[in-house]
Amino acid sequence: MRILVTGGAGFLGSHLIDRLMIADHDVICLDNFYTGNKQNVLQWIGNPKFDLIRHDITEPIRLEVDQIYHLACPASPVHYQYNPVKTIKTNVLGTMNMLGLAKRVKARFFLASTSEVYGDPEVHPQPESYRGSVNTIGIRSCYDEGKRVAETLAFDYHRQNDVDIRVVRIFNTYGPRMLENDGRVVSNLIVQALKGVPLTIYGDGSQTRSFCYASDLIEGFIRLMNCDYVGPVNIGNPGEYTILQLAKTIQEMVNPGVALKFEPLPQDDPRRRKPDITLAQKLLDWEPTVPLQEGLSRTIADFRQRLGSEVVASAVLR
Ligand SMILES: NC(=O)c1ccc[n+]([C@@H]2O[C@H](COP(=O)([O-])OP(=O)(O)OC[C@H]3O[C@@H](n4cnc5c(N)ncnc54)[C@H](O)[C@@H]3O)[C@@H](O)[C@H]2O)c1
Repeated sequence: MRILVTGGAGFLGSHLIDRLMIADHDVICLDNFYTGNKQNVLQWIGNPKFDLIRHDITEPIRLEVDQIYHLACPASPVHYQYNPVKTIKTNVLGTMNMLGLAKRVKARFFLASTSEVYGDPEVHPQPESYRGSVNTIGIRSCYDEGKRVAETLAFDYHRQNDVDIRVVRIFNTYGPRMLENDGRVVSNLIVQALKGVPLTIYGDGSQTRSFCYASDLIEGFIRLMNCDYVGPVNIGNPGEYTILQLAKTIQEMVNPGVALKFEPLPQDDPRRRKPDITLAQKLLDWEPTVPLQEGLSRTIADFRQRLGSEVVASAVLR
């Protein structure tokens, strides 16, 4: 099949591309490199089955493809809040453009939505039927509401134009190739521990999150894309940890001597987050397989290598 991956040079997109290339598909990676990086897909450049297009999805594009995995959108608060209007445009105009493309070429369309559509949830864990508790005017709204509209668009194109859609709601995912400076909790803590600076905990660290390893998530993507159910389907790891537990685990694994420091909670930070994955288990026979310790040690190894080579590069430049 010829498969388009928007946001393909990003963290999750590039892992997805690895899987699709290994499965011998023709893959087009489309990215504006806002938070993505050519390095992430470097191993495929020059392969006749791989194309890389620099393009911003807020502008339409014409391509002939069989499937579209639509991931383009900055995912970390630091990046999506840097230019919130652009984030909304990416989620609304960008998703509309990609749905328009899917409609024209009759491609199956996969939307990477998010657990953020549940906002600060009053229901725990969150099943797909929960409608969410989102602040429409807060600093996270450009992303949360943007993704809610993206879901609405997908379902309207499905009902009105018969576009064949799949919608996944992704919960916190981590793994190699996360950006060092993206402000997400796993990368933040690992980078701080590796650099020997105090690990930042927002609030008292009692807020909970679940952490899914990237390869588990991508397996869920592929199963959903290739099944008959349109979604939405939660994909995430239901193991629930407090941020303090996570920080202590990383501290122990990387640098037991490093201190912890506490800072005020950012606005609208959800208190609890944990997926109900009953639907994914039943429909996709999917559940996560990589335990947190193992996923963390692979992620730490990747950061160690990248940070190490950065130190070498800056030493050479000097
Ligand atoms: N990583 C997670 O834990 C998580 C959780 C929930 C949802 N998601 C969703 O999964 C998708 C991928 O997330 P990620 O973690 O890989 O993030 P990422 O920031 O690493 O990747 C996003 C990619 O999209 C590209 N992009 C952004 N705006 C674009 C535009 N206007 N035109 C073209 N390309 C654009 C970026 O350059 C980047 O390569 C996003 O849609 C995100 O909302 C991720």
